[in-house]
Amino acid sequence: MNFRSLKLVAALALGAGLLAGCEQSPVERPPMDSVQHGFRGTGMVQVYNPRTVASQDALNTAPESPPPASPDGPRAKDVYQNVKVLGDVSAGQFIGLMTAITNWVSPKEGCAYCHNVQNFADDSKYTKTVSRKMIEMTRHINANWQTHVANTGVTCYTCHRGNPVPQQVWFTPLEQDKRADFIGDLAGQNTPGKLVNLSSLPTDPLTPFLLEDKPIRVNGDTALPSGNRQSIKQTEWTYGLMMHMSTSLGVNCTYCHNTRAAASWAESPPQRITAWHGIRMARDVNNDYMVPLTDVFPVHRKGPGGDVAKVSCATCHQGAYKPLYGFPMLTSYPELATIAGAEKK
Ligand code: HEC
Ligand code: HEC
Ligand code: HEC
Ligand code: HEC
Repeated sequence: MNFRSLKLVAALALGAGLLAGCEQSPVERPPMDSVQHGFRGTGMVQVYNPRTVASQDALNTAPESPPPASPDGPRAKDVYQNVKVLGDVSAGQFIGLMTAITNWVSPKEGCAYCHNVQNFADDSKYTKTVSRKMIEMTRHINANWQTHVANTGVTCYTCHRGNPVPQQVWFTPLEQDKRADFIGDLAGQNTPGKLVNLSSLPTDPLTPFLLEDKPIRVNGDTALPSGNRQSIKQTEWTYGLMMHMSTSLGVNCTYCHNTRAAASWAESPPQRITAWHGIRMARDVNNDYMVPLTDVFPVHRKGPGGDVAKVSCATCHQGAYKPLYGFPMLTSYPELATIAGAEKK
């Protein structure tokens, strides 16, 4: 779904919500379950709605993964004509991967989504060019971001789940049109934002933190105002990001914080450190892989300001504390776990 249709759906949903008053969706009704997550007595409890979890099961079930293809035999670069990133894999692994990629990204459209099927070596479809970069990106994440993805790793399926365009991508919104200032300067917030769970926090906390590297910490480190740039305003942006992280993983703040001291690392569960690396990983992937693809994508795939679709926590996690509840699909595709010499960064 693109950004515009998302906005339309959001508007329709809002309208429906207003009409329905306070009626709750049947999935979200109580009772809730709770699971202790931190030390006893700290109130660090995860509150789960068993019906939401059940409704997510299908989304987070990995497709069947075959045994790994044989790494022996001739290399793909010697068998095919125009292989630029997968040249080091065996011809058997190569065809296995093409089949898997088709199932993961374009199951309806098939090989033709990326290929001119008269000539598989032809590079005329932009989707093939994008896919080359995506293969490099997937290998880079698996090889260089083990601080986040561990050995579980990611495949194309982690983000795509059978869709050419992953369901959870984001664009930088346009600034408010100044001619609309008679309704008040919303200052990028004060309107229910989908990324921030319909709170009135800044609606786009992703551009400053998952594309740019604006500071996230908000606790001042000096007592006096001089030199202390922290403010409530800045805290709202940080909270916006935290809302996005919580909803993307389907967890509460206490999954990563002892909320009596949100800043204290010593009191935080280890998941917070994984999340810290995740923030850097998303930033890296957006700047080094997505942004350079901007000119490759056709206009209708881009955002209102002409920017490329980008990766957030939700792109991989899709509501689960670990994507696909930690199912290690990568073990079937070791050729996506490593980087051949030339591509290593
Ligand atoms: C999502 C995109 C995508 C889909 C779908 C896809 N491929 Fe590919 N295919 C690629 C990319 C990218 C390359 C180039 C890989 C490289 O440069 O290392 C490639 C290369 C090939 C090549 C090598 C051609 C040559 O001589 O250089 C063959 C053969 C091939 N694919 C077969 C298939 C078949 C068969 C299917 C369907 C089962 C398929 N592909 C589906 C992206 C895709
Ligand atoms: C970390 C998440 C992530 C992973 C992993 C990932 N992709 Fe993507 N992919 C994206 C995003 C984001 C886009 C941009 C969406 C768009 O097309 O507007 C995209 C776009 C694409 C497109 C263009 C689709 C279109 O119709 O415009 C193709 C093809 C594609 N990816 C193939 C792959 C392949 C093949 C792999 C695995 C080797 C892969 N992707 C792995 C996030 C990912
Ligand atoms: C998935 C883990 C995770 C979740 C869930 C989470 N946080 Fe965070 N939080 C972090 C990380 C990591 C940082 C540090 C970010 C950095 O410095 O790059 C942080 C930083 C913060 C800070 C700044 C602390 C400082 O050093 O000044 C506040 C405040 C905060 N979070 C509040 C919240 C709130 C409120 C929620 C729930 C809405 C929440 N967090 C949910 C991981 C999480
Ligand atoms: C490229 C895909 C991808 C993206 C993007 C991503 N993650 Fe993850 N994340 C994973 C994978 C895979 C794991 C599972 C690692 C494992 O098995 O230990 C994971 C694990 C985690 C965990 C550990 C959960 C636990 O219970 O141990 C946290 C916390 C987390 N991610 C937070 C985040 C946050 C916050 C973001 C956004 C800033 C993010 N992730 C973005 C793929 C991703």
